[in-house]
Amino acid sequence: MKPLTVLGIETSCDETAAAVLRLDERGPHVLSDIVLGQAAQHAPYKGVVPEIAARAHVEGLDGTIAAAMRDAKLEFADLDGVAATAGPGLIGGVMVGLLAGKAIALAHDKPLIGVNHLEGHALSPRLAPGGATFPYLLLLVSGGHCQFIAVLDVGVYRRYGSTLDDALGEAFDKLAKLLDLGFPGGPLVEKAAENGDSKRFVLPRPLLGREGCDFSFAGLKTACAREVARLGTLAAQDKADLCASFQAAALDIIEDRTRNAMRMFDTVWGAKGRLVAAGGVAANQRIRGKLEALAAERNYDFIAPPLKWCTDNAAMIALAGAERLRLGFSDDLSFPARPRWPLDGEAARLRPSHQAGRKGAKA
Ligand code: KG4
Ligand code: ZN
Repeated sequence: MKPLTVLGIETSCDETAAAVLRLDERGPHVLSDIVLGQAAQHAPYKGVVPEIAARAHVEGLDGTIAAAMRDAKLEFADLDGVAATAGPGLIGGVMVGLLAGKAIALAHDKPLIGVNHLEGHALSPRLAPGGATFPYLLLLVSGGHCQFIAVLDVGVYRRYGSTLDDALGEAFDKLAKLLDLGFPGGPLVEKAAENGDSKRFVLPRPLLGREGCDFSFAGLKTACAREVARLGTLAAQDKADLCASFQAAALDIIEDRTRNAMRMFDTVWGAKGRLVAAGGVAANQRIRGKLEALAAERNYDFIAPPLKWCTDNAAMIALAGAERLRLGFSDDLSFPARPRWPLDGEAARLRPSHQAGRKGAKA
């Protein structure tokens, strides 16, 4: 195959990112990979503020793209295509990145690829040398997503289950906000939990024991809020105990749901599978350890991509764009930015012969 060099742009949440990737017959090679975080801008509000995120993308994107091109030692003229996240995500930010991608594609007469952010995450385990080979079962757990996807090939995805309400990262962040620990909350809750008693608070485990592998965290979050209200003023030990109890509940839910998801994957793909964890929450050591043990129990390989490609990045967007380009797909400059865009709908767009998942598209 002719090597393809693609610029990727990612702006769907609170990371302004650009990367250049070359895809050849040996696989993907990341030539540059720049991520400009916005945590400091959002920290005073203890969560991502969409308007602030969009403005920060406007301010930071040009410099980020320039840095990615400089690191790759390339000019726009050297590119074979420009890939930008077109959704799902915070719509203001998505529009900033997609418009920038369109402008570069138009000015330099390059094909544009509007990438589904979830497809980027789904393919991200393939960025590392010797990365995951198809098919694999992906657990994507971040602040915005919480779902199991069977990744069968480029453009062929089956969503086995997803959250009915909050994403797990969101639940970690909300607990941290409730306890005034700071933002982003996940790592702070994990740290606090180390010194806590995980049995002190009896918290619900929604959907545990139910068939399928959907998630629900709203009840767990509400139960935490009730405990905080009941306690009134919280000592450091109360916070630690609540964090530990919350994390124990999250671990039980993940264990139960992952077992079901692996069983669903097995029925189609046989007993020897691959379990991949991606998304910011996959940085949690207890969760990682639990997934590793569950995979071993079922004779699965466990693959956790390097953290820089677990969280939001543009290398995964460039990879998804390059793979699409290789298959002969590119998009019109009128391609829309979408706040919601389920991956199964995406798969149907790329490979019409493959139907949407069992439950069909969510939106
Ligand atoms: O993938 P990511 O960087 O961005 C998206 O949400 O797309 O994930 C960020 C999320 C946040 O909710 C953060 O609190 C959570 O991942 N997170 C963690 C940990 N590190 C990050 N959650 C639990 N434990 C952690 N160590
Ligand atoms: Zn993401």
